Amino acid sequence: MIRQETIDAIMGAVRIEEVVGDFVTLRRRGVNLVGLCPFHNEKTPSFNVNPARGIYKCFGCGKAGNAVGFVMEHEHLSYPEALRYLGRKYNVAVEEEVQTDEERQLRDRRDSLLHVHAFALDFFRKSLFETEEGKAIGLSYLKDREYREDILQKFELGYSPEAWDALTARAMNEGFSSDYLVESGLTIRKDERYYDRFRGRVIFPIHNLTGAPVAFAGRILSSDRSRPKYINSPETEIYHKSKVLYGLHHARQAIVSHDECLLVEGYTDVLSLHQAGIENVVASSGTALTVDQIRLIRRYTENITILYDGDEAGLKASFRGIDLILEQGLNVRLVLFPEGEDPDSFVRKNRVNVVRDFIRSRSENFIPFKARLLIRESEGDPVKKAGGIRDIVASVALVPDGIKRNLFIRECSQLMDIPEQTLMFEMNKMLRRRLQERRTEGGEDQVTEAPPPPPQALQTRTRDHQAVENDLVRILLNHGMLDFDMPIQDQGSTELVPVNTATYILHHLLSDGLEASDPACRTVIQVFRRHLEKEELPPIDLFLNHPDAGVARLAIDLITSPHNLSANWKRHRIHVPTEEQVIRELVINAVNAFKLAHVERELERLGTDLKGPLEAVHQLALMARQNELLRKKVEISRLLGRVISH
Ligand code: GTP
Ligand code: MN
Repeated sequence: MIRQETIDAIMGAVRIEEVVGDFVTLRRRGVNLVGLCPFHNEKTPSFNVNPARGIYKCFGCGKAGNAVGFVMEHEHLSYPEALRYLGRKYNVAVEEEVQTDEERQLRDRRDSLLHVHAFALDFFRKSLFETEEGKAIGLSYLKDREYREDILQKFELGYSPEAWDALTARAMNEGFSSDYLVESGLTIRKDERYYDRFRGRVIFPIHNLTGAPVAFAGRILSSDRSRPKYINSPETEIYHKSKVLYGLHHARQAIVSHDECLLVEGYTDVLSLHQAGIENVVASSGTALTVDQIRLIRRYTENITILYDGDEAGLKASFRGIDLILEQGLNVRLVLFPEGEDPDSFVRKNRVNVVRDFIRSRSENFIPFKARLLIRESEGDPVKKAGGIRDIVASVALVPDGIKRNLFIRECSQLMDIPEQTLMFEMNKMLRRRLQERRTEGGEDQVTEAPPPPPQALQTRTRDHQAVENDLVRILLNHGMLDFDMPIQDQGSTELVPVNTATYILHHLLSDGLEASDPACRTVIQVFRRHLEKEELPPIDLFLNHPDAGVARLAIDLITSPHNLSANWKRHRIHVPTEEQVIRELVINAVNAFKLAHVERELERLGTDLKGPLEAVHQLALMARQNELLRKKVEISRLLGRVISH
């Protein structure tokens, strides 16, 4: 267990906007910050962060929570793991915890790996900028390529010395275990000897989204064709190649503000474009994008522009990969660079404005581009043309948006000089086939059928009751501290006496012996009760950060959900009072609705009991109770201004 004091220290240091901001680009809107929800797919931001309350809520998918909850959800961590993460972020020391051996090992391994990488990064940077060898070999190479020092610093470039074990020896000296050095791939073990993987190379660190180095790529400095130009770190627990995009942590903000992500092949392309002030760029590191990487981009934009610098054969080979991007619902554009140029060389030869204009004016939507290329290739060859048509239609069929699909079909019909209906027919055939395939794939769905829904009446009742309980708890949480004037009859005259909202609610629940049926609501009410007994109100944070996740979620939901009442008022009156102005009516109604819900529930139970075989005496007693409840029901309903029927 992590001690409560430690948790308090972490929660005191945490700022929700910083925690979320590591993963989501946020923009200020009033007192809140908004961004694109990382938990579901959306185009317009409905993900709200409230710094004052320390909570987030997505009005699109309903996910809500505090900083710990966010880290748990987003990083798939347990509660203690999330606290540790935040402790690290905010420099709060978290004591050792009794964990299972397995948990401890996993955490230790990740921590150790991050540690080794941070150490190595530091070593490589110092080697580049502060050693004679690094300056003479590494830095001069980079300067020859005209990289400015601020760019080298920004991307934390480094140099790995020629010596066999410069890094390994230093790291072991510092107490790093050889196991982690080997696991990270920084060190290679051979016949009980250790040597450095990246010897004599310029180092490009690869960062995760929080900016921590999780892997390295080393570029060779000679033009020796017999050795690979780049070597990379292996996959580890902190580095999954298919889920990382080079440069993303520096590009996120610019991708959002341009609503476009430029995709290049190489590390050096990213550096050069940044140097030219074009920052919405990431590198695929020479391979086709994976679905995970595409989804990563989709968090920030729907528009991806591929800056392609290879030949036509290579381009055609990458069509399959581009289909994957279309399938994920992104818009793909393509820019081809002149023969022999890549973004890196092009940026160095041309002024920034020329580069920008080039990208803007030469970029072309992928579908018509592909259509044109296929026609050109199949000129005079009807068989090949037919194949080309099917090929392009297959790409269009992948686009999830039906309107876009139809527009593409129209465009392709013009480009390929084929009737629109023909293409449409072909596409619909493909769509149907795909649908069928999915059905058969999802065969198990038909086996595990959902349980039959409860009878309609009962279902709506339960939902009503839940709403009534939520409403009461919502008032407690939002307005529990408010007082309202209550008219009290005192010896013939009426006096207005200030009554505290929370006290009024708790008094009524206790004197009638009523409890909420929902466990989270019940907990909130109990906490209020305990505090009111000490003549104080519970702080709201107590609920927002409640260890019971259900309670925290309920509290956050109720605090952030817009109340229904003002909507009702809006409908009926011109003047819209705030909830606080109508607090008396609100509280009394909510308490009465709560009572009514209980009466109705008991009546329901009685009705069932009375249908069964009963002794006469017992039956009479139940009927007496039934009458009593019915009277109560009428009375409360009248107070609530409801017409009842039974
Ligand atoms: P420069 O030629 O120095 O400008 O580097 P570059 O990054 O532009 O390299 P290039 O265009 O040849 O390749 C594009 C990307 O493919 C690189 O950034 C690497 O991510 C990857 N790549 C290229 N060559 C190799 C290699 O030999 N091994 C590995 N693992 N990756 C490579
Ligand atoms: Mn290149």
